[in-house]
Amino acid sequence: MSDKDHLTLNIDGQKITAKRGQTLMQACDAAGVYIPRLCDSEGLEPQGSCRVCSVKLNGRVVAACTQPVVANAHIESETEEINRYRKDLVSMLFHEGNHLCPICEASGRCELQAMAYRLGISQAAPHPYLEPVRPVDASHPDIALDNNRCILCGRCIRASRDVDGKHVFEYIGRGIHKRIGVNADCLAETDASIDDHAMSLEVCPVGCIIRKREGFFAPVGERLYDTEVIGRDIETQQPHHHSLHKIEVKQIDPADFPPFNKDDNGDTV
Ligand code: SF4
Ligand code: SF4
Ligand code: FES
Repeated sequence: MSDKDHLTLNIDGQKITAKRGQTLMQACDAAGVYIPRLCDSEGLEPQGSCRVCSVKLNGRVVAACTQPVVANAHIESETEEINRYRKDLVSMLFHEGNHLCPICEASGRCELQAMAYRLGISQAAPHPYLEPVRPVDASHPDIALDNNRCILCGRCIRASRDVDGKHVFEYIGRGIHKRIGVNADCLAETDASIDDHAMSLEVCPVGCIIRKREGFFAPVGERLYDTEVIGRDIETQQPHHHSLHKIEVKQIDPADFPPFNKDDNGDTV
C-alpha cells in the first residue's frame, strides 16, 4: 500500500504498512516486528544514542528509533552482520561499567541483561573490564543512584524533564568520564520523588535508579525476563510492562524486624 498517509516497508523480507511520520521503530512495533533497543522507551522522545536499534535502510546503517519511514524502504534487521554490531555494543556496556548481576536487584528485569540473553552473549568480549570507581548516591530517603550500573541511556533525563517537568537528572563529564548526575549536590537536595515517572521501574533499564526498600521484590522464576524474552511483548502485541507490577511491591519497615541478636519473642540469642 502507498497512499498519501501510508507507505509499505520491507523488513527482512516481510512487508509491513507504516504511517508517514512514524519512525522505523514505531512502524515495526505496530506491525509486531521487534527491533532491539536500550535508550528508547515508550512515551519518551527518542534519543538515538545507544545504537542497539541499528538497522540497514537501503544499505545504510541508521538508528531505527530516530529514522523516519521513507518510501521504498528495504530494511535489514535480523541479519548476522547487524546482530554482530548489536552484540558488540551490548558487550562493551558490560565492560565499561561494573555489572555484578547475581547481586543486582535489577537482575531478571534488567533490559541490558535481557538483551545480552536475546543476542546470545554468553562469554566476555575480548576487551578489558574498565572497573571504574563511581559514586553511589544514597542520600535520598526513598531513592538511590548507583552509577556503576548506568548505561547512559538518558531515559531518566527525558522522563524527569518531559514527563515530570523537574530536570532532576543531567549528563555530567565528557568522554569516558561522562555519567549521570543530579541538579544539586546530591539526590536528597533535588525535588526528586519516589512517585516521579523517572523513578518508575519502566524508566531505568538497569539497576542504577534504585527504589529503596523494594529490592528483590520478585522471586527468581517470577521476574519479568525469567519467563519472557525481551521484545516478546512487541512480537506478540501483548503489553508486558504490566507484569512489572503483577507482584505487589511492599515497602519494608526495618522496625518490623527484631534486632539481629533477638529471636521473635525478644529473647537474646
Ligand atoms: S544492571 Fe543489569 S546487567 Fe548490570 S548488574 Fe544489574 S542485572 Fe546485571
Ligand atoms: S540512571 Fe538509568 S535511566 Fe538514567 S541514564 Fe543511567 S541507565 Fe539510563
Ligand atoms: S534505541 Fe535507538 S539508538 Fe538507542
